[in-house]
Amino acid sequence: MVDGPMINTLGLTKKFGGFTAVDDADMAVERGTIHGFVGPNGAGKTTTIKMLIGGLRATSGEAWIGGHPIGSHASRALLGYAPEHPSLYDDMTAFDFLVFMARVCGVPRKLAGERAYALLDSLDLGEFADRGSKNYSAGQRQRLCLAQAMIHEPELLILDEPTANMDPTGRLAIMDRLVSLAREQGTTIFLSSHILPELEQIVDSITMINHGKIVVSGGVDHLREQFSENQYLLRTSANEAVLEILRRGETLEEGWVDADDFVHLVAEDGDALRREIMRAVSDAGADLDHISEDRTSLPDIYRKMVGMDEEEGE
Ligand SMILES: Nc1ncnc2c1ncn2[C@@H]1O[C@H](COP(=O)(O)OP(=O)(O)OP(=O)(O)O)[C@@H](O)[C@H]1O
Ligand SMILES: [Mg+2]
Repeated sequence: MVDGPMINTLGLTKKFGGFTAVDDADMAVERGTIHGFVGPNGAGKTTTIKMLIGGLRATSGEAWIGGHPIGSHASRALLGYAPEHPSLYDDMTAFDFLVFMARVCGVPRKLAGERAYALLDSLDLGEFADRGSKNYSAGQRQRLCLAQAMIHEPELLILDEPTANMDPTGRLAIMDRLVSLAREQGTTIFLSSHILPELEQIVDSITMINHGKIVVSGGVDHLREQFSENQYLLRTSANEAVLEILRRGETLEEGWVDADDFVHLVAEDGDALRREIMRAVSDAGADLDHISEDRTSLPDIYRKMVGMDEEEGE
């Protein structure tokens, strides 16, 4: 089956005893796209991923990978998976491990060796090729785990927080790699992450999950449009005082100051908000350094749909 989404779920549900970890999840991921999967700790991301890769049986509902039912041999043959907590063979060298994993997936020995060296090199693990993974750092384990997911060049990569333990340079390199895999090879990438601003740079579409329920799913551009309320970005000589005055008024729905000292303001009525901003700046006796319309970001959508208290990764 060539048409249709790469991942499709319909009412996918997982219960552990009386507890519902994933609740009636509907989701579609188009081929060749990068799809982000986000939500707070315990939201149900890893549980969903384990069902998709065929590692955990769904309690109810259905899902398909490339048109094949999850858990089937055909569905598993399409994907590479990097788990949240990689388990490696500590005594096996990185090179042998990758060749072994490639052979399990049917890659001829010579090609497996070539790919293993290329991957170790590009993931900055070249010097570990001949060493067992026992003393790897967390980030190095994660890199080897990613290499293992990629070694058979699958059509679909399912990555559970692939950069959680990596340094900033390593994370950027991995993100670049994922983008080129999607754009140049047409690989579909489904990745969970808590680092929203980073995800925002690379994803085409996104699913947000909270308490097992999908709260938002779709193309990022479409979601931005859908969520683009009347938002303003402001910087003044007295941000807190201006914000305080606006909070006392009727118009402001949400307002916060970010790490760069910009005030983000959201209201139903943008015109009224702009008038109130001007009045508040004047009442506070503040100088206005900057005012512009604010673009809806993934963190904005997350804040709205999942909530501030549970926000992470910013
Ligand atoms: N085998 C299990 N038995 C019982 N409960 C489980 C099991 N696996 C997961 N859970 C529960 O299901 C919920 C979802 O867990 P899951 O690992 O899917 O969360 P997550 O979204 O991946 O979180 P994190 O961001 O921390 O990785 C949690 O409340 C967890 O305690
Ligand atoms: Mg998880």
